[in-house]
Amino acid sequence: MNPKPLSSASTYTQGHSAAVVASHASRTVENSAAFLLPHLKPHFTVVDLGCGPGTITKGFCPHVADGSVIGIDAAESVIELARAGASEKEYPNLRFCVGDITARLPLDDNSVDVVYTSQVLYHIPAPVRVIKEALRVLKPGGMLAMRETDTLIYHPANAGTEAFTATMARAVSPGAQGIGSGRRIHLWAQQAGFERSKMQVRAGATCHPAPDESRWWANIQVERLQGEIGRKWLEELKIVHNQAEIDAMAAGLKAWGDSPEAWYVAVQGEVICWK
Ligand SMILES: C[S@@+](CC[C@H](N)C(=O)[O-])C[C@H]1O[C@@H](n2cnc3c(N)ncnc32)[C@H](O)[C@@H]1O
Repeated sequence: MNPKPLSSASTYTQGHSAAVVASHASRTVENSAAFLLPHLKPHFTVVDLGCGPGTITKGFCPHVADGSVIGIDAAESVIELARAGASEKEYPNLRFCVGDITARLPLDDNSVDVVYTSQVLYHIPAPVRVIKEALRVLKPGGMLAMRETDTLIYHPANAGTEAFTATMARAVSPGAQGIGSGRRIHLWAQQAGFERSKMQVRAGATCHPAPDESRWWANIQVERLQGEIGRKWLEELKIVHNQAEIDAMAAGLKAWGDSPEAWYVAVQGEVICWK
């Protein structure tokens, strides 16, 4: 295996502001790849497609101590962050590279034990193409493990959280599935050539309840709205008409976060496909 630099192209519409990266960086192997961990063996090679800031990626390293881990992401800035958060001394079997996962992956046929995705196929207009590449690079018996969002629940909902959730659903790249991806990833895998009889099709959830986690989550979303994402929704994507709509979403999120009943759940499709 010889990872080379790839061209960088992304259909990711969320940007990489501090608030966005903070929400990605809260992800770990424990909260985002628990369904895969029992299947890892120390000599395995793991490739994390669309790895973001690499907090999940580096978490694979101790599980494959005699193997290696590669994180690939289209955003140079986020790959720099990932590298900065994982010293070579602490993670000698880890590499990050910039690349477009919708292009041919810089990996030989039948060379990888595990390909992993988290919240990435959600943003990609042609996920089947990415899954076909995963199938190509996996060794016979290797695994593709995908964790992709299906449904977002804010309880107790208010007009602001409802508007925010509906706008998030529309804010993906044209053609990308976005919300509803979790229930489809096993179907995409079949279209790409994986066999249904060699799949584990499950679902998991991310939960941020009151009081502390709901406030933390609400603050991250409000920062996103008041920064890069709010601007993008308003000026570029034009899926929000005016600043007042953004302010109303932010107020709703804050009120939700402060509610003693606050409970946020993201339902995730969690699927493993064996080659
Ligand atoms: C929602 S983040 C998920 C990051 C990480 N996997 C996680 O779960 O925290 C999606 C990431 O996919 C990357 N991405 C989107 N399209 C991509 C593409 N075509 N090639 C490589 N990376 C891509 C984005 O840059 C972003 O960092």
